[in-house]
Amino acid sequence: MSVNVIFAASEAAPFAKTGGLADVAGSLPVELKRLGCKVVLFMPLYREVLEKGSRLYEVDLDIDVPLGEESHKARLFKGNLGEIPVYFIKRDEYYDRTYLYGTPEGDYFDNLERFCFFSRAVIESVKACGFKPDIIHCNDWQTGLVPAYLKDVYADDDYFSRVSTVLTIHNLAYQGLFHPSKFPHTGLSPAMFNPEGVEFWGRLNFLKAGIVFADAITTVSEAYARDIQTEEHGWGLDGLLRKRSEDLYGILNGVDYSEWNPETDRLIPSNYSIKNMRGKYWCRRRLLREMKLPIGREAPLIGVVSRLAGQKGMDILSEAIPVLAKLDLGLVILGSGDRKYQTIIEELAARFSHRVAARIGFDNRLAHLIEAGCDMFLMPSRYEPCGLNQIYSLKYGTIPIVRATGGLDDTVRDYNEVARGREKGPANGFKFTDYSAEALVAKVAEAVEVFGDKKAWRDLQTEAMVEDFSWHSSALKYIDLYRRVMERAEKRRAEEAARRAATARRT
Ligand code: ADP
Ligand code: GLC
Repeated sequence: MSVNVIFAASEAAPFAKTGGLADVAGSLPVELKRLGCKVVLFMPLYREVLEKGSRLYEVDLDIDVPLGEESHKARLFKGNLGEIPVYFIKRDEYYDRTYLYGTPEGDYFDNLERFCFFSRAVIESVKACGFKPDIIHCNDWQTGLVPAYLKDVYADDDYFSRVSTVLTIHNLAYQGLFHPSKFPHTGLSPAMFNPEGVEFWGRLNFLKAGIVFADAITTVSEAYARDIQTEEHGWGLDGLLRKRSEDLYGILNGVDYSEWNPETDRLIPSNYSIKNMRGKYWCRRRLLREMKLPIGREAPLIGVVSRLAGQKGMDILSEAIPVLAKLDLGLVILGSGDRKYQTIIEELAARFSHRVAARIGFDNRLAHLIEAGCDMFLMPSRYEPCGLNQIYSLKYGTIPIVRATGGLDDTVRDYNEVARGREKGPANGFKFTDYSAEALVAKVAEAVEVFGDKKAWRDLQTEAMVEDFSWHSSALKYIDLYRRVMERAEKRRAEEAARRAATARRT
């Protein structure tokens, strides 16, 4: 039985990207399709999509998007991701901007309007185009209202009576929280604004709407699925998530090895493989030259590619840099995000320019070069739902040094813990537990020591490079979930019909 899926996301590679959500939305649908699903992807038509020169054509349909008292128009553009049709919701007033969600100074003031509009436009477009999905797969707060709309505004609309929803939480910390005075703009019934619905401590919460009303909820690693049900990592939604724990699943992200593989990567100066690592050396040379980093041949080079946000451990990294700079190593940082961290990182790079080089901005080519040219990759995250860069790093033989949290904990096995028999399976990296600059520095020092042992390092690289995190098995888990959700909905409908028939017989 083939499953018809509408995949709705606020970003998708290669069209527009701020982080891992784009990588997932740009690759999971492709694997779902390969496994026999019919998939259509929806995303906003940002300026970035056009600037990248994506080939799109306009669909001859006017979409009416009712919001609050008014109805707005959306235009639809169509492109493709391999064999998958991609529909872009166009409304320039909302999406023709430099950034996707906000500037380095903070979120756009009208994100409620922007993503209310997107969510509602997806539903209206599905209908206008005549798609008959079994599942609408929503992602993060930006599409959190879709399940709420279907259970409320569209509850009696026959067109959607057989549609179920799945919500994937890529990051629980971003919830889409808005002032209650904006609630009427959503067009949801007033009764929805209560603690059992979309209200959250007096505010409107888009992600909560998705968690309450989606038929199933997933998140991007098993560890994070457990973490978010605890008070420590639940961001106030742990109680609700525990309540929905029977419908909450952790499915580890896969990665797209057609984009992230040193053997075929078109964005790096020299390809390489486990059998012949020579190319990695040329990538390192290019990276050092580009970043003007004067470190010696024997010094390990550590990479960081990150959104500059509290989540990513930028505070402990900044605290650690003056100490790390005393070791014989190089550190290359590529990041974009909060102005606060941009300034700190730039200052540290200027102060320790003999060891540290930083580039502020979003640069996919440089991200690939860092993966290829470095010896180690550092992710000191405070929390990490999945994390993709450590998985890319493994394939590039760039040994990850991570904090043991969420998906980082699920995917990296620590060298010394494995040697001591405290962690199972072959080691593929380094992992520290305490969220502190001291723990970070200690782990980096450990890695640097192992780096000095060429044979041990080579073995570690081999283990890392043979790891396979391709989408296949995770996509099968999604399909399995879709089917379970559909069967449950079918059963509910049959029970409901039987109830109605019984009532009719009685009257
Ligand atoms: P998150 O989604 O929390 O940012 P992930 O590790 O899942 O973290 O994914 C991050 C993705 O974004 C990776 O593909 C990474 O290479 C990319 N990325 C992050 N920051 C930058 C940047 N400044 N320039 C280029 N790519 C970046
Ligand atoms: C989020 C998370 C990250 C995850 C990505 C894709 O941005 O922060 O850990 O890998 O989504 O699911």
